Amino acid sequence: MRCISCGANPDSAAQDFRCTACGDLLEFFFPGWTYDSPTSDPAALKSLWLNRRTSSAALDQSGVWRFRELLPHIPNLEEHAITLREGNTPLYSLPRCARVAGVDNLYAKHQGMNPTASFKDTGMTFAASSAHHAGFRWVACASTGNTSASMAAYAARGNMHSLVLIPEGKISWGKLSQSLDYGALTCQLCTDFDGCVTILNQLVRQKPVYLLNSVNPYRIEGQKTAAIELMEQLAWEPPDHIIVPGGNLGNSSAIGKALLEMRELKLISRLPKLSIIQAQGANPFYRSVREFGGKKLEPMTADTQATAIRIGNPASWKKAQRVLEATCGEVEQVTEVEIAAAKAEIGADGIGCEPASAVTLAGLKKLRRSGFIKPGESVVLILTGHLLKDPDFTIKFHRGDLFAGTPEQSRSAAARHLQRAPVELDANLSSVIAALEAAERNS
Ligand code: F0G
Repeated sequence: MRCISCGANPDSAAQDFRCTACGDLLEFFFPGWTYDSPTSDPAALKSLWLNRRTSSAALDQSGVWRFRELLPHIPNLEEHAITLREGNTPLYSLPRCARVAGVDNLYAKHQGMNPTASFKDTGMTFAASSAHHAGFRWVACASTGNTSASMAAYAARGNMHSLVLIPEGKISWGKLSQSLDYGALTCQLCTDFDGCVTILNQLVRQKPVYLLNSVNPYRIEGQKTAAIELMEQLAWEPPDHIIVPGGNLGNSSAIGKALLEMRELKLISRLPKLSIIQAQGANPFYRSVREFGGKKLEPMTADTQATAIRIGNPASWKKAQRVLEATCGEVEQVTEVEIAAAKAEIGADGIGCEPASAVTLAGLKKLRRSGFIKPGESVVLILTGHLLKDPDFTIKFHRGDLFAGTPEQSRSAAARHLQRAPVELDANLSSVIAALEAAERNS
């Protein structure tokens, strides 16, 4: 491991995964990737990973551990690995969304198709396994809902206890219900995500509890594999653009790290541009890049109905800034109405996702309008969570209630054509036929 700011190389990480010299984040780097190591032959690696698809061993079936040559070593892996066969997520084409956005080739890598229905599982399998190897009884995280659902599941599988700190009233019921069912000690705190993080950081310095937020560099390593799997699905031909949502900025950092490492290892010959999209009400990174050239970040009080990314003080902003620069990507912000419309459009392609994931399509539309993305370029959206994570948002949108009483109410007319409210009818055949015929006339 090394510190991203001062370059210190600690032998082991402190409880809060911060550099003991300067307090910044740590990352894994791989000085052993030289020409006599197993990573030196890209073609051999590609065929090894492909062959593992036919194996019946749990680690080979996992879409994370299948790529273990590019991950840090965990001793006695067979004993400590906790896997739910995460990864292996589909890459879908999005033909209708492509037309709406004005691009020829648009794909979605759906990380919501993981075992707990979000991208968090790819990082969690790796970091929870490292907690198990280190002998911890308790693991903990602060969360907007998906990290906690994932952590609770992996802790349960690994016979560890889990402690969840979530902002009271600001996470979806679907996510809360997961951590309850997986047996976590779930604490709802009357603060926001950033307040939960502050308390958790104090806690891990006092109690032998293993921190599973994305400041933990093992999380980032596991999350890297989504990009490796994506390149494999594209026959190692990188797309022109990859677009990710930005919250705490761990995911964008992980995907960017994977792209840079894959190029270093000659697994790919060029870098896609990695762009990061934030909700306008939770845009500290957007402002950091646009106002301060990415040199500093001013924390803010965040607000958005895309509660997964309701984050005002993102921990991994420096890592994200680095990969944005290295891949020549762009940062954008999108409004609440743009998010809701994009989510319904992704749904209409038969795919669906949770609100935070839909910022990617909303961002793509803006990046097309600005000319940053050209019509003939290929684009992959990273959809981070499943449609069923936040059914309240979806139902309110289709019923026309999502923006009632909010500042966006007047602007929400722009998304009305996408609403499909349920039709309440008398229980007889003729009313159903009339509804069918009316729908046919309007289609
Ligand atoms: N999309 C979804 C569905 C998320 O749950 C999150 C983050 C993000 C995007 C943003 O990813 O933080 O790596 O930039 N959710 C965290 C959580 C914070 O606690 O579940 P990021």
